[in-house]
Order: sequence, then structure tokens, then C-alpha cells
Amino acid sequence: MNSIRLRSLPHLLLALVLTFAGIQQASAQEAATVKKEGVTPGATAAATPATVAAPAAGGGDAAAIAAGDALFKGNCAQCHAINEQVVGPALGGITKRRPISWLLPWIKNSSKVVASGDEYAVALYNKFNKQQMPSFALSDKEITSIVAYITSEEGKTAAVAGVTAGNAPAADGAAAGSGAEAGAGKYMDILLIVLVVVLIVLVVTLVIIGNLMKDVLRGRKDLDGRDIEILEQRFDWGKFYRSPVLRGIVGVVFALVLLYEGVQSVMAVGLNQGYQPTQPIAFSHKLHAGTNQINCAYCHTSVYKSKSANIPSANICMNCHSQIKTESPEIKKIYRAIERKQPIQWVRIHNLPDLAYFNHSQHTQVAGLQCQTCHGPIQNMEVVYQYSALTMGWCINCHREMPLNTKDNKYYDNLVKLHDTKNAGAPFTVSSNGGTECSKCHY
Ligand code: HEC
Ligand code: HEC
Ligand code: HEC
Ligand code: HEC
Ligand code: HEC
Ligand code: HEC
Repeated sequence: MNSIRLRSLPHLLLALVLTFAGIQQASAQEAATVKKEGVTPGATAAATPATVAAPAAGGGDAAAIAAGDALFKGNCAQCHAINEQVVGPALGGITKRRPISWLLPWIKNSSKVVASGDEYAVALYNKFNKQQMPSFALSDKEITSIVAYITSEEGKTAAVAGVTAGNAPAADGAAAGSGAEAGAGKYMDILLIVLVVVLIVLVVTLVIIGNLMKDVLRGRKDLDGRDIEILEQRFDWGKFYRSPVLRGIVGVVFALVLLYEGVQSVMAVGLNQGYQPTQPIAFSHKLHAGTNQINCAYCHTSVYKSKSANIPSANICMNCHSQIKTESPEIKKIYRAIERKQPIQWVRIHNLPDLAYFNHSQHTQVAGLQCQTCHGPIQNMEVVYQYSALTMGWCINCHREMPLNTKDNKYYDNLVKLHDTKNAGAPFTVSSNGGTECSKCHY
């Protein structure tokens, strides 16, 4: 009879753990429904301001948001984020800054809006160092879906902010929704902590009771052999370590980790994204191209004219530094290089393998791309790093998606006509013009 009570102890523990897991699951489900109630109305309320409601796309429509998500990632994400400035401004709250009647022509052709003398557009264009945003052959419906996506993301980021800030000021529907969610989240957290504490107390109490009972039983004389065996049983660690099941599991996990690391390092061969070597002189693009707004091509003189964008020689530095900061130890390094008639040994950062052909003028002069599209926010970099992956997939992805800059370029007129009659609606991308053929990039 005693042995029965003893044996049931592990069962009791197991039952407790199961109950706890059950409670946790239930509360997770509850949290999920709270989330649904809390956020959805907020998000739709935010996604349907008067400005978006105008065209047929319908602001909160999930399909439109999904379509907008894809369009945004394909066309805009390289320059824009919702909440932070990348190459272009953060797009969060755009419908509050600009009506849709302004956004449509802007996204289709921003330079036309700037050229028309629109006050807001000109100010923005100047603020972003006269960087031109590319034109997009998107329909009104596609643009509205992008805007719907942006607005829905605002809702989400507001929700995240709401959770971290606890009670963010309820500026709009989304923030109010997120406030409810944050409250529910906190409530769940407290409930969980209480449950864990209760469980720990229970386990400790049970262990104490178990030990007490063992002591009582040990004092009794009328136990048979089997009862004594149970009473004195200990967990055999030696047996546990030697068990083939454990060894098997450890072996498999080890092999998987090795395999994963191996695959990762093979994939990373020749991939230098983020590479940021220390340069021989502490030259700062932030100071020169950012603060002092020196044009990129002042130093990288051939970037619009030829295949490569040369690195400036010390003479170009001397145009200014024969006068500016002449006493600085870093500038003295330039003088020393000139005295010794030796070039400054800049460490090369971007470097495609010889098998690939890349031409700057084709991309900067002909396509009109911004340096930042490929090199990132150079004007904010103290020390330059490789921003893009520079893999074949990176080149080809852009060629598949980027519409060709065919305006005022007679060379393309007939090609575009031919393309449009064959695939109405699809944009005339670089790949429509053969930009994904192997021979274009490989000798
Ligand atoms: C190559 C970079 C680039 C890409 C790609 C790009 N933009 Fe822009 N965008 C800019 C820059 C730079 C500005 C700032 C204005 C200027 O300098 O012309 C801007 C401004 C804007 C503005 C005005 C923002 C404000 O605060 O008023 C909107 C809206 C906008 N972009 C939407 C889009 C959308 C939508 C897409 C994708 C379809 C897109 N942009 C793709 C660079 C880009
Ligand atoms: C005052 C001269 C100067 C200006 C202006 C300047 N650069 Fe540079 N740039 C340099 C020098 C010197 C280096 C080599 C040292 C280094 O990497 O910092 C360099 C390196 C680079 C590199 C890395 C080259 C490599 O090794 O792969 C890139 C990319 C680059 N510049 C882009 C730009 C862009 C984009 C701008 C305009 C926003 C710009 N630079 C403006 C002088 C300049
Ligand atoms: C068009 C003019 C111009 C050119 C060209 C130029 N610089 Fe500068 N540079 C400046 C200015 C302006 C400053 C900021 C001086 C200050 O902070 O008072 C500066 C500051 C610096 C500094 C920081 C000095 C210090 O100790 O604070 C370094 C280093 C430097 N430049 C290196 C270079 C190198 C290397 C080149 C050639 C690749 C170069 N600069 C080309 C204008 C120029
Ligand atoms: C379409 C993407 C793209 C654009 C746009 C672009 N670059 Fe590059 N840039 C590259 C690639 C790729 C390399 C590596 C080239 C190589 O290794 O042959 C590179 C290399 C460089 C280098 C190192 C020297 C060289 O030519 O290899 C400099 C400096 C540079 N770029 C500056 C600029 C400047 C300044 C602009 C804007 C005027 C610009 N780039 C625009 C992709 C781009
Ligand atoms: C951000 C977008 C973008 C990236 C990234 C990019 N390209 Fe391009 N590329 C273009 C555009 C746009 C054109 C079309 C230029 C024109 O109007 O002829 C082009 C054209 C070309 C052409 C000429 C194609 C033809 O039909 O004549 C070659 C070659 C090329 N790119 C190679 C590369 C290589 C190699 C890389 C990667 C290292 C690369 N590009 C990365 C946008 C890009
Ligand atoms: C838009 C330019 C572009 C086109 C088109 C292109 N490639 Fe590449 N390819 C590259 C670049 C850039 C690299 C170097 C990538 C790196 O260093 O990671 C490369 C690398 C390679 C490599 C070396 C393996 C590697 O990943 O480093 C092979 C093989 C290759 N390409 C085959 C092809 C074939 C086959 C085609 C036609 C189906 C093709 N490429 C089309 C740009 C291109």
C-alpha cells in the first residue's frame, strides 16, 4: 500500500506538468484572440484614411496589402523603409503628409513633379541632395496597394512601439488597438509568472513531502524486498551516459551542426558583404560627401564615363588640402605619399571576380541609377563598407525588376513598341532587353 503511494509520486508530477502546459496553451490562445480583436480594427482603421479610400483598391483589403508588400519589396525597399531613412525618406505616415493625388504622379515620375515646380517636391528633392528617385511604370491600383501596405506596416510598427513603451499616446486607431494589446500582453506575462512561482512552490513541497515519507518508511520494519528497492532507488547517471540512445542523439546533432557550418562557409566563398577594411588614411565619406557635399564624381572622376570608378590620386586631395587642415597628422600622410612619389595604398573593398563584366557608366550615366542603390548610404559612412552582396543573384534580381530608362532615348523606341505589343502591361525591364543573358556579364 505504501509502495503504491510512493510510485504515484512521479505520476503526480507528470500530471502537474501536463496541467501547466495545458494552461499555458490556453492562455496563448486567449492572447491570440485578444491580439486579433485588438489589432485588426486598429490596422484597418489606419489603412483607410480618406486619401486611400478614393480609388477602388479599398484600403484595408488584405489582398491589396499583400500585393503592395510584394511591389514595395521589389521596387522600393532598396531605397525606402517604413520607419527609418535609407536612401530616400522613411515612408511611415506618408498619407498624412501627402494626398494620393500627389503620390500617384510622384511615384510614376518624380522628376516631372519636381520640374513642375511643386513646392513640397522641390524642397524634398533639395533636402536629399538632388537625388532623383527612379520612375516607375506602375498602375494607379498598384500604387494604391503599395500605399495600403505602407499604412498597414505603420499600424504594426506602432503596435511594437506600443508594447515597448507600455502606454504610447493613442494618436490614432492603430495606436489605440496596440494599447489594448500591450495591456493584454502584460496581463498574460503576470499570469505566467504567478503560475511558474506556484509550480516551483508545488514541486519543492512535493520533494519535501517525498523525503519525509521516505524517512518515515525507513523507520518501519515490515517492508518487503520490493518496497525497499523502490525506497532506495537512485537515478543511475553512469547508465544514462553509456546509453546508446543518448550517444546516437549527440552524434546526429554534432553531424548536423558540422554539415550546417560547412554549407554556410561554402556558400560564403567570395561573398564579402559588409567588408570594411581599415584604410591607410582616416578618410571619411561622411565628412567629404556628406557634410561638405563634395560631388562623388569630383573624386571618382570616371564613374559616369567608363567601366570603372577610379579612386582619386593624392593630387586631387591636394586641390583642397594644400590649404585645409594642413597641420593634421592624417593630412601629413598625403604629403608624405607625394614626397615619396608613391600612391596611397587604399585597400580595395568592392571586387568582382575576373569572370564577370560590370560597367559603371552603363549603370550611372545610361540607366541613371544612384550610387546609393548599389553602394548604400556612402555619404553617411565614416569608413566605407561593402553594402550589397555583389553576387550574380543580386545583379540578376535587379535586372529582372528594374524598368529600363527608355525616355528620350531613341535607341529604345522601336524595342519598347515591339515589347508592348507582345506583352501588354508588363514593364520593359533590363531583362526584357537581354540583361539576363550569360554573355552580357561573362566574357
Ligand atoms: C533609387 C532609390 C529610390 C527608389 C528605388 C524609390 N525611391 Fe522614393 N524616394 C527616393 C528619394 C531619394 C526620395 C527623396 C526625394 C528626391 O530626392 O527626389 C524619395 C521620395 C519618395 C516619396 C516622398 C516621401 C516624403 O516624405 O514626402 C515617396 C512617397 C516615395 N519616394 C515613394 C516611393 C515608392 C512607393 C517607391 C517604389 C515604387 C520608391 N519611392 C522607390 C529614392 C527612391
Ligand atoms: C574627396 C574625395 C571623395 C569623394 C567626394 C567621394 N569619394 Fe568615394 N572614395 C574616396 C577615396 C579616397 C576612397 C578610397 C578609401 C576608402 O575606401 O575610404 C573612396 C572609396 C569609395 C568606395 C569603395 C571603393 C572600393 O575600394 O571598393 C566607394 C563605393 C565610394 N568611394 C563611393 C563614393 C560615393 C558614392 C561618393 C558620393 C556620395 C563618394 N565616394 C565620394 C574619395 C572620395
Ligand atoms: C573639395 C575639397 C576636398 C578634397 C578634394 C579633399 N578634402 Fe579632405 N577635407 C576637406 C574638408 C573641407 C575637410 C574638413 C576640414 C575641417 O574639419 O575643418 C576635410 C577633412 C579631411 C580629413 C580630416 C582631417 C582631420 O584631421 O580632421 C582627412 C583625413 C581628409 N580630409 C583626407 C582627404 C583625402 C585623403 C583626400 C583625397 C582623397 C581629401 N581629403 C580630399 C576638403 C577636401
Ligand atoms: C548597379 C550598381 C552600381 C552603381 C549604381 C554604382 N556602382 Fe560602384 N561598384 C559597383 C560594383 C559591382 C563594383 C565592383 C566593380 C568591380 O569589382 O569590377 C563597384 C565599384 C566601385 C568603386 C571601386 C572602384 C571600381 O571601379 O571598381 C568605386 C569607387 C565606386 N564603385 C563608386 C561608385 C560611385 C561614385 C557611383 C555613383 C556615381 C557608383 N559606384 C554607382 C556597383 C555599382
Ligand atoms: C540596381 C539595379 C542593378 C544592379 C544591382 C545591377 N544592374 Fe546591371 N543594369 C541595370 C540597368 C537599369 C541596366 C540598363 C542600362 C541601360 O539602359 O542600358 C543594366 C545594364 C547592364 C548591362 C548591359 C545589358 C545590356 O542589355 O546591354 C550589363 C552587362 C550589366 N548591367 C551588368 C551588371 C552586373 C555584372 C551587375 C552585378 C555586379 C549588375 N549589372 C547589377 C541595373 C542594375
Ligand atoms: C547580370 C549579370 C550576370 C548574368 C546575366 C549572368 N551572370 Fe554569372 N555571374 C555574375 C557575377 C557578378 C558573378 C560573380 C559572383 C560572385 O563573385 O559571387 C557571376 C558568377 C558566375 C559563375 C561562377 C560561380 C559563382 O557563383 O561564383 C558562374 C558559373 C556563372 N556566373 C554562370 C552564369 C551563367 C551560366 C549565366 C547565364 C544563365 C550567367 N552566369 C549570367 C553576373 C552575371
